[in-house]
Amino acid sequence: MAEELSLMELLLTNREMSKWREERGRKGQIVGFVPTMGYLHQGHLALMEEALRRADRVAVSIFVNPTQFSPGEDLDEYPRDMERDLKLCRELGVHAVFAPETEEMYPAGFQTRVEVEKLTQNLCGLHRPDFFSGVTLVVTKLFCAVRPHLAVFGEKDFQQLVVVKRLSQDLNLGVEIIGHPIVREPDGLAMSSRNTYLSEDERRSALSLSRSLLAARKLVSEGERNAEVLVAQVKAMIESEPHTRIQYVQVVDEKTMMDLNEVTSGAVMALAVFVGEARLIDNMRLWPE
Ligand code: PAJ
Repeated sequence: MAEELSLMELLLTNREMSKWREERGRKGQIVGFVPTMGYLHQGHLALMEEALRRADRVAVSIFVNPTQFSPGEDLDEYPRDMERDLKLCRELGVHAVFAPETEEMYPAGFQTRVEVEKLTQNLCGLHRPDFFSGVTLVVTKLFCAVRPHLAVFGEKDFQQLVVVKRLSQDLNLGVEIIGHPIVREPDGLAMSSRNTYLSEDERRSALSLSRSLLAARKLVSEGERNAEVLVAQVKAMIESEPHTRIQYVQVVDEKTMMDLNEVTSGAVMALAVFVGEARLIDNMRLWPE
């Protein structure tokens, strides 16, 4: 047993992944899964720890998925460091890493799509037209290869979490989707592989994202309920910093992802802001818990 725990398997093909999974099934083990695009940080590692707490065996995927990037986005620049990622997974006690090549996931002739309709219309879906169909496609494929009992996703990509829950339910994928709170740097910046794009100056400006969300939450706790007022305050705080360009700041319902005029118990403020070249997202529940 001790020997098995110390060995992490690196699986490069769907076939290898499925074989690993079959073996786990034969032993009656609960399999947890954390899909990632690599360049791992504490946010990713927290999801893996959550999976390790809940499952007997944990698989992590590392795959920068081309179908969720639109032309002109940062697919080619997306940071990669497989050696370091594998070391971090091994040290944490992850049991298997699935790291397929693009041709393994999308061989010549590939033509299937997976769409979740309404939940993907607003927020990131509005501004990144290819994003969610790429995410739902790759998550479906990964779930088919790994066939996990449960999968952990971060609340940092709040809309993605809600969309994947819907996907798993609608297609009877049988995967329990578990959300994990956002992991932040000590100064409040939500951890992201894309933070590596930030210069020192830009990083300072990027702090306005979490700071303005906290300010909005404080206004709500003082009685403000008008979403428009809150959005205007947040926009002003972010725009007052250099290097920032707001894509959206919205107050939505946590279940439907539809805009809210009034803040009520399911209200989440979500935003996407370019800071220099980096497109950063963040969100916060507005209702005092
Ligand atoms: P990636 O951006 O690598 O994120 C992988 C997982 O880590 C996602 O569930 C994301 O929400 C979570 N995560 C990232 N930063 C986090 C933070 N600061 N706190 C908590 N969780 C965080 O999201 C993707 O990859 C891809 O779209 C993927 C689902 C892998 C499909 O390609």
